[in-house]
This record gives sequence, structure tokens and C-alpha cells, in this order.
Amino acid sequence: MDEVDASRGDVLVAVDAPPEVADQFEVKLLWMSEHAMAPGRQYVMKLACKQVTATVTAIKHRVDINTGAHLAAKTLGLNEIATVKLSCSAPLVFEPYSTNRTLGGFILIDKLTFETVGTGMIDFALRRASNIHWQALELKKETRAQQKHQTPRCIWFTGLSGSGKSAIANLLEKRFFAEGRHTYLLDGDNVRHGLNRDLGFTEADRVENIRRVAEVARLMVDAGLIVLVSFISPFRSERGLARSKFAEGEFVEVFVDTPIEECERRDVKGLYAKARKGELKNFTGIDSPYEAPQAPEVHLHAGATALDACVDQLMLALG
Ligand code: ADX
Repeated sequence: MDEVDASRGDVLVAVDAPPEVADQFEVKLLWMSEHAMAPGRQYVMKLACKQVTATVTAIKHRVDINTGAHLAAKTLGLNEIATVKLSCSAPLVFEPYSTNRTLGGFILIDKLTFETVGTGMIDFALRRASNIHWQALELKKETRAQQKHQTPRCIWFTGLSGSGKSAIANLLEKRFFAEGRHTYLLDGDNVRHGLNRDLGFTEADRVENIRRVAEVARLMVDAGLIVLVSFISPFRSERGLARSKFAEGEFVEVFVDTPIEECERRDVKGLYAKARKGELKNFTGIDSPYEAPQAPEVHLHAGATALDACVDQLMLALG
């Protein structure tokens, strides 16, 4: 008799009637949290005994509970129901909810608060889930990095608008460049002119903004580069998502900690003044939250420290 190594979440199935396995689904979702659902944000998905990370990749339509009408939606609020597409970090053994409630029903949990934020039913697996494979490439990150004589990294600057993120990242990149390192600087204002031109400053748009730039940074690190990312990135959840794309030690979170009073006093772009007058909505630190990092790799007190000294501190920390 062969031994079977089965752990929590694994499913034993009949050989002649195996259920499907997939990592992308169309599901019906009921949102149960006061805090709106944002496509692209990572949640914990619990299906039977299995837990994975899941993100809503698209809201197909929201359902009007009184009329059954299909409505367009960018987010989901408390008690709203929608048909959405879900993407998971690992494949799940499942059956449609209509035939199996245990293997077709799931809940979504907030990663930071552990609150149950949604409950859902799987309708079917998306065909793309079984048709897209990983192409095996022969040149690896390590090989590309060796050619450049460097350790690729993502140095992620977070902080309020006007905190000095971009100025510090710019100086750091110049120092790297002078040392012959291969770098690239992704800056919020600039990326928002191109790749992220379609995004504004609502919570949902900022989540997508960070998701995209994290993916770009990951590709650049894979190419062997030292990537500097300078985005407000106000939400802990998406900075966590960015971190999760990288290997241990590859992601360096730099908190550019300048008091809002100082950012507002500098007001280089005149945006704080506009926000105070109510001419600019959803401004970070005024009517949109900034969730400060709790354990950044580098903490720069950039209000009280000269820019050059901040860069020295960074160079030291980066080794
Ligand atoms: S993030 O929050 O989504 O990470 P990002 O870093 O891309 O923001 O863009 C921030 C830049 O956009 C700021 O430096 C500022 O110049 C500009 N901006 C325009 N409107 C806003 C707003 N409502 N809140 C914050 N920054 C804004």
C-alpha cells in the first residue's frame, strides 16, 4: 500500500469522477464590509479547508437586488452583489456551487484585519486558467544580474506628496549610476502620464496604480535591474502586495517620513493649497488616508534631515 502525503486543504477524489482544478473563476460575490471592495487588492480566500490569496480582476456587473438589473460598477459596497472574475494564487479543487456547496462556496477575508469581507459562489472556471502556461525561459534573473555585476532589487519609496520621495530616489539613482550600476526609476507622476494614464485618485484607482507598477518593477528586477519606485502608495495592503512579488531581501521599503505640516509648507506643486480649498478631492493626508509603514526596512526622517544625508543613510542600509 502506498502512503499518501495529504495535508490540510488537500482533497481526495474518486479516480473516475475528479472535480475540476483551476485558479481563475467567475463567481457571484456578496460584499459584507463597510470598506469597499477594490479590484486588484489581495484578500484571503477560504474554500472548504483550503486558503489561498485571491484578487478580483474584474467586476462583470453588479446586480440591483430589487430589480435584478445588471449595473456597471468599479467597486462594491456593503451588501452589494456582483458577478466578478477572481484570480487565485494557487489552483483550487472546486465544483460549481450549484452542484456542490462545500467545494463551490467560499469566503473572502481581509489580510490585515482578518474581518470576513465577502462570501461567494463559484459559477465556473475561466477557460484562460487552463490555457495559459508558464513559458520556460533559459536565461534566468541570476544570469542577467551576473552580467551586470549587481544584485537586483526593488527599492520602494512611500510617503506623502511633497515628502521628498522623488528627490531622494533621484539622488540615490545618480549615486548608483556613478558606481556603474544598472538602474531605473519609476515615478508616480511620470507613470501616470503613460501606463497609468487612465487612473485617478480614488481608492480603487490607487490600488490598481500600485498593482501595475509592482508588476512592472518585478519584471525590471527579473531583468537584473535595481529599480527605484517612488509612489505615495498610501495603503499597507498594496505595499504588502508589492512586497509579495519579490524574493526575500529583494524588496526594500523606504518610508520617507516628513510631517504633513512640512509637506504642506513646501507645497511645491500647489496641490495642498488646492486640496484645502476643496478644489482637489481625495488628496492624500487631507481627505484620503495615508497608512504609515509599521516596519519599513529604512525609515528616513526627511523633514529634519538634509537630502544628501538621507541618501547616505540609504546607501549604508543597502550595504
Ligand atoms: S498613489 O497614491 O496612487 O501612489 P502616485 O504616487 O501615483 O499616488 O501619484 C501622486 C502624485 O500625483 C502626487 O505627487 C501629486 O503630484 C499628484 N496628485 C494629483 N492629485 C492627487 C491626489 N488627489 N492625491 C495625491 N496626489 C495627487
